Amino acid sequence: MSTGAGLFVSFEGGEGAGKSTQIRRLADHLRRTGLDVITTREPGGSAGAEALRHVLLSGAAEPFGIRMEALLFAAARNDHVETVIRPALAKGFVVLCDRFMDSSRVYQGVTGNLEVEFIDALERIAVNGVVPDLTLVLDLPAAAGLERARGRLAAEASGEAAPDRFEREELDTHEKRRQAFLDIAAADPKRCRVIDADRTVGEIAESIAEAVQPLLARRKPVSQPESVGAE
Ligand code: TYD
Repeated sequence: MSTGAGLFVSFEGGEGAGKSTQIRRLADHLRRTGLDVITTREPGGSAGAEALRHVLLSGAAEPFGIRMEALLFAAARNDHVETVIRPALAKGFVVLCDRFMDSSRVYQGVTGNLEVEFIDALERIAVNGVVPDLTLVLDLPAAAGLERARGRLAAEASGEAAPDRFEREELDTHEKRRQAFLDIAAADPKRCRVIDADRTVGEIAESIAEAVQPLLARRKPVSQPESVGAE
């Protein structure tokens, strides 16, 4: 459970699942209903974590091994949690985060072949009690996701268009990751919801809004108005 009066929602899934589009749409939708929302992403989202983002995504840490990478993801996550996510939740914000701890479980743990105990220990330290109230797993066949991600990269045609270290990998690895996200969701149905991402943007957005709604209804009020109607 997250801390504070806010609501913490993480978005997970493979490449090209449409997480960033859906986060933007949900943020707009929630803001229109009067909620305070912050959108953030991993690796990154805070000054310390953004400093590590380039090291991780450029492949600069790769020669030092998967443990080093996992430790850096955890260091970035802890900075993000303590300087951005926890304070925002305490103030009652809805926090929408593009990837969180499940990405480490999947990319470093499952396809990186790191032992579960190591990943679990890092996760405990990194999140320090701040676990998403809801994790939306945007699911689609790996081939479809990769095609979308490649289309996006080609369309960008800028310096940023080069695939990152984690996008250069083979299709079967991506399929393994898809299954690993589905396994996480199946093992923790209270926290996770699988969203079929092989549909139109509008249809996916609708399913996401439906998944978030009950949690908003249950949320504790941020602060009670001091003396409504008092004499
Ligand atoms: P990015 O380009 O930010 O996003 P996305 O693929 O979500 O559109 O890339 C982030 C990459 O980092 C992505 O390939 C997954 C990887 N990653 C990990 O390996 N472990 C982690 O804990 C996180 C947060 C991300």
